[in-house]
Parts: sequence; structure tokens; C-alpha cells
Amino acid sequence: MVTEATAGSANGPDEPPLAPVVRVDLPAPPAFGRGSGDPGVALVTIDRPAVLNALDAAVLSGLAAAFRRLDADPTCRAIVLSGAGTRAFAAGADIKGMVDATPATIETAGGFEHWETISAVGLPVIAAVRGFALGGGCELALQCDLIVAGDDATFGQPEIKLGIIPGAGGTQRLTRAVGKARAMELILTGRSIDAHEAERLGMVSVVVPAEETLDRALELAGRIAAMPPLAVRSAKAVIAAAQELSLAEGLRIERRVFVDLFATEDQHEGMTAFIEKRQPHWTGR
Ligand code: CAA
Repeated sequence: MVTEATAGSANGPDEPPLAPVVRVDLPAPPAFGRGSGDPGVALVTIDRPAVLNALDAAVLSGLAAAFRRLDADPTCRAIVLSGAGTRAFAAGADIKGMVDATPATIETAGGFEHWETISAVGLPVIAAVRGFALGGGCELALQCDLIVAGDDATFGQPEIKLGIIPGAGGTQRLTRAVGKARAMELILTGRSIDAHEAERLGMVSVVVPAEETLDRALELAGRIAAMPPLAVRSAKAVIAAAQELSLAEGLRIERRVFVDLFATEDQHEGMTAFIEKRQPHWTGR
């Protein structure tokens, strides 16, 4: 099934159609054009290349609707998030739509609920970043579980140059990703960094040749999609909890989830397949 946002059915029958600025392909196209595409991998594309995929209200609500729908789709096992074109993943929140905002209007129209929906998705999400990932674009990439960065990628939180601060998690997630000293320098100066520096700082999982970015992200998503889905969701949730909790609380949750997975068919199948020296067949139960 290929769901184009413009076709108007991406949200399911009871929800309004996605904005045409967000495209959803499930299954995603095959990595490197080989094979038929992994049936469990979805590709979500921000599609406003003329403005470097700037995140306006339509993009944010479209992303939230797409993620909500994919998270509820049992055929979907992993999501790759990308920006249309080669120049940008996303160059941040749409500045033209914010210039005349007031505290009251930004509070209601800032799309904060959409950011929360995006970060609450239980499926693993891989950002495929080419070009600019700035401001909200950097924050969106940091919300993803893994970042595959092309060697043409640029990351940064330039909000300070606009008289504001990051408003979609940058002060918190960047600080957790790279530490206080580096986050302070990047956010207080608004300096952008290239893909290799981002990798050295621990922000990105891997840097790849620019033109391979999407294919390498799709390949990685395919490898994750081939894993038992309940264990994948569980691992993501517990790792995410490590950002929020004390070590003792995190270890308690890890133990609980580890124990609970022994109630699943996939645990029995995975261990039986190992003993029988065959490939496991996952049911997601
Ligand atoms: N919002 C709206 N439009 C944007 C945009 C943004 N964030 N970023 C780029 N664009 C538009 C430009 O206005 C331009 O449109 P026009 O052709 O109609 O003028 C088009 O995209 C191409 O951009 P440039 O001509 O500027 O391209 P460039 O190569 O010279 O520069 C850039 C690229 C360095 C990324 C530059 O566009 C730039 O600095 N963009 C803004 C980056 C930024 O400050 N992001 C943070 C936004 S605030 C935020 O995100 C808050 C938050 O925490 C949620």
C-alpha cells in the first residue's frame, strides 16, 4: 500500500486528510532500488522543498497524524523520516508564520501538541538527514531514535539569532545528547555544525555519503523491522525512559519489561528457533 498524503486517506476513514506537505509511503521504496521495499518500513517525507521544508502548522499536524496512524498500523514496524529534496531535512519552524505571533497566539498555535504526538510514537523512527537540520528541524531529528546523516548535513539551534530559544525540546534533548558545555556553546551562539562534528558529539548514529542517506536509513529501518516488534517497542521505550528517570527507577522498569516479554510468543519462538538452528518467525504476539 502506498499512501500519498495528497490522496487524502492517510489518516484513516474518520480523520481529515493529511496536508499535502507530508507524504507517507508504506511500504517505503526499496533501499538502493533493490528488491521491492521492506513491507514493514514506512517513509514519511516533509514536502516543502521551496522553503527548505520549514515546519509550519500544516507540516506539524500532518506529521502528527501520519505518526499516529503508522503507530496503530500492525503492518508498520519502523519509520524513516526525511525531507524532500537534497537541501534540507527541515530548516526550522516557519519564521514567516511566527514573526507577528504573541505569547497568546504562539501558545495556542505553536503546534506543541503535535510535537508531543510525534515524540510519543512507539515505533522506532530513523531520521534521514541531508542538508539543513536547524532549529525545529534539529529538534525533530533529535526526537527520532536514530539519525543517519549525509555528509552534507548541517545541524544547529540558531533560534538565539532570532531573539528566541529552541521551543521544541532543543535545550533539553541537545543537552542530553551532547552534554551541558557543548549545548551551551551551540545554543548561546547559534553556531551550526557539520555532520562529522555532530557524529563526534554523539548526536548522530552514522555519517554516510550524502547521496546514500535515504537508502542507508531505509536499510537500517529494514534491519530493525525484521526484529520482533514487541521487543523493539519495549527496547525503545526503556531506552527513552533512561532520559527521564534515575538509574534505580530505570533498572526497575527494565526488569519489569524484560520479565513481561517472557509472556510473549515471540520470546518462545526466538529461543526455539535458536535451539533448532532456524530463522525465527515473528508474530508480534
Ligand atoms: N522559515 C521560513 N522560511 C524559510 C526558513 C524558515 N525557517 N528557512 C528557509 N526558508 C526559506 C527562505 O525564506 C527562502 O524562501 P524565499 O526563496 O521565498 O526567500 C528559502 O527558504 C530558501 O532559503 P534561503 O534563500 O535563505 O537559502 P540559503 O541557502 O541562503 O540559506 C539557511 C539557508 C541558512 C538554512 C537559511 O535559510 C536560514 O538561516 N534559515 C532559517 C534557519 C532558522 O533560523 N531556523 C530556526 C527557526 S525558529 C525555530 O525553529 C523555533 C523552534 O525551536 C521550533
